[in-house]
Amino acid sequence: MSIRKQLKKLEYRSRALQVKLGETVTAPLRNRSAADLGIMRPLPEPEPLSMTLTDALQSRHSEQQFAERTISDQQLVNILWAVNGVNRKDGKRTTPSPCGWNGILVYVVKSNGAWLWTPEKGALTYVKGGDLRSSVVPLNPLVARAPVHLVYVADLSSTRLKAFESAGEFLTLFRSGSSKRLGAWANNAVRSTVMIDVGAKVQTCYLACAAMGLASLCWYTPDHQKTAEALSLGPRQVVIASQAVGHPF
Ligand SMILES: Cc1cc2nc3c(=O)[nH]c(=O)nc-3n(C[C@H](O)[C@H](O)[C@H](O)COP(=O)(O)O)c2cc1C
Repeated sequence: MSIRKQLKKLEYRSRALQVKLGETVTAPLRNRSAADLGIMRPLPEPEPLSMTLTDALQSRHSEQQFAERTISDQQLVNILWAVNGVNRKDGKRTTPSPCGWNGILVYVVKSNGAWLWTPEKGALTYVKGGDLRSSVVPLNPLVARAPVHLVYVADLSSTRLKAFESAGEFLTLFRSGSSKRLGAWANNAVRSTVMIDVGAKVQTCYLACAAMGLASLCWYTPDHQKTAEALSLGPRQVVIASQAVGHPF
């Protein structure tokens, strides 16, 4: 074969190789969802709320109806930071968490999709597109139409929680009364502390909303399974409650 022909072939081969290599790199990316790629939506810095705590407590209340009006990113981040924001250099949060587990995930369900509040970045991580609000609040359209629903999810796959749970299960296996009691206590403690953690977040959200003249309603999500499916949760991620946020009707 002439050198010219060989070069031509080589060039062809190298182009084919380039295409092949290109595909090898981009195909896995193409097949991954935006959520897998960790697409983030930055939010502004939270701004100080000026209402006194006494006034906020005085105004805190639940609303059963919401206006069909969106809230600003500034208002949203003020709430999210209050609910679960980083307030110290060591990464600790604005609301207490048992042993600093930080095992409660706060999902943000809006008309443009579902997002996960990511406190360390002060941003929202994309989870899913589409309007999933009626999956969170299927029974009441006046609440469902609130522009934002926070969904509190206990991430029981968190290694610290798992270790505590496993210790509880391990201890209950022992015959001795005190080990059994300690094991049962540890198992119950996981359940109770998760609820207390969410309770602290719910009240903080109510207070932040009161301070900004926004309406809020904590909602015992009736169909946890439907909400979990809508948010593509893992098997050890449990929906505890949700909270509608918006403008008063
Ligand atoms: C854990 C929890 C679950 C709730 N679930 C619902 C609910 O499913 N539906 C509803 O209309 N209100 C719900 N609420 C709101 C209460 O009904 C409301 O807080 C109560 O009526 C007192 O009103 P207030 O918040 O204005 O003081 C819930 C509140 C909490 C704390």
